[in-house]
Amino acid sequence: PDPQTFGSVLLDWYDDHARKMPWRISPSDRKAGVMPDPYRVWMSEVMLQQTTVAAVKDYFQRFTLRWPTIADLAAAEDPDVMAEWAGLGYYARARNLLKCARVVTSEYGGQFPDTYDALLKLPGIGPYTAAAISSIAFDRPETVLDGNVERVMARMYDIHDPLPGSKPALKSLAGVLTPSVRPGDYAQAVMDLGATICTPKSPACGICPWRSPCLARQNGTAAELPKKTPK
Ligand code: ADE
Repeated sequence: PDPQTFGSVLLDWYDDHARKMPWRISPSDRKAGVMPDPYRVWMSEVMLQQTTVAAVKDYFQRFTLRWPTIADLAAAEDPDVMAEWAGLGYYARARNLLKCARVVTSEYGGQFPDTYDALLKLPGIGPYTAAAISSIAFDRPETVLDGNVERVMARMYDIHDPLPGSKPALKSLAGVLTPSVRPGDYAQAVMDLGATICTPKSPACGICPWRSPCLARQNGTAAELPKKTPK
């Protein structure tokens, strides 16, 4: 089967099973062609860099209620932003958040750039976040590789080489599977699959939309992947 058909199988699954998150738009809006607000996508991805979805939700709601647009955030007082961030940890993220808001407001007229390369130059935006924003907010077919996606790819292709050495290989496999239609939904679908079905322990292979092509499932190795080089 053509890898691109795996993408459409996963998108069908996502249409029924996407986790609800305050920065996502509803499946019906998405089908109608509505795109998410890049400001909200960026805010959520920066918060999610080192923090779980469950912990981020409330912070995201408070930040976007208090500063609904990037211009509002750019105009905020530094101590107010730091105080609102208290508890999320990794405070460099909050300082970079404010820096980035000011750069986008002053140099880009308040509109986030839509390419990976331009996003990567902004404060606090590394390779993961640049790929996530360009794919989720602008539907560009970038490869979004986080821990969830690494695990899903290691299992789909039954890769036994340990992380982190296997990262580039996993990234290129993830890239091969990225469809040209709805790449932003696809990126989020793989992350949701990893978080809810292709879990580190006791993966729910029986209900996985990728159970038939998955090589680790065929070989009975899913639960032991991905391997990690001992520290
Ligand atoms: N983890 C980081 N970003 C995410 C997203 N947009 N959807 C699901 N999990 C994520």
